[in-house]
Amino acid sequence: MAYLPRVGEVPLSVYYRRGRILKFLVEDYGGVSTKVAGVRPNNILAVRGPYGHGFGLESGKSYMLVAGGSGAPPVINFIRAARKLARTRFTYILGARTADQLFLLKEVEKLGAQVFPATDDGSMGFAGNAVSLAESLLEDSHYDALYACGPESMLESARELAEKKKIRYEGSYVRDVRCAVGICGLCVMEGLGLLVCADGPVFTGEVLAAGIRK
Ligand code: FES
Repeated sequence: MAYLPRVGEVPLSVYYRRGRILKFLVEDYGGVSTKVAGVRPNNILAVRGPYGHGFGLESGKSYMLVAGGSGAPPVINFIRAARKLARTRFTYILGARTADQLFLLKEVEKLGAQVFPATDDGSMGFAGNAVSLAESLLEDSHYDALYACGPESMLESARELAEKKKIRYEGSYVRDVRCAVGICGLCVMEGLGLLVCADGPVFTGEVLAAGIRK
């Protein structure tokens, strides 16, 4: 959570961390996010977190990674960790409405990952959404798991695809986090009773399907 004094807080994902340097991807969707996106050198931006747990990672597995728009950072962090493990294979799909919304492509290419862009308007890469591209790649190649981060409609399609292909699914979900210890209920996943701060932000397909707390 990033806090701009006298303005408010927004949930953000760090995509780079070294020493005292943190890099975030900030999506400007109005309100506090617009102010945070406008932060300049010497402004104060306070950060608290991280909370909960990230994606599961095992060596010797193959991962299909799907990110939508500003959902790229958690997946990029996963790639940073995965590339250090032996016999671990991953394919990265980044989807957006248009080419100019494909964030952090260069960062992922620098990590040595093969990147498959997908755009709704066909302005770069596959013409269509990221999950459709994942489905076509899964026709030709086996993967052990499908991990995703992005808009919740995309996450639900990704979860359904993984269920259909009978492979593991994990998705990273975003909510505002206040108490961060499972008390206030602000971060609840509506209808599921899951708390993003305490149970997530990454949830497996089984947990989501069952709609129960771990
Ligand atoms: S932020 Fe309070 S329950 Fe999650």
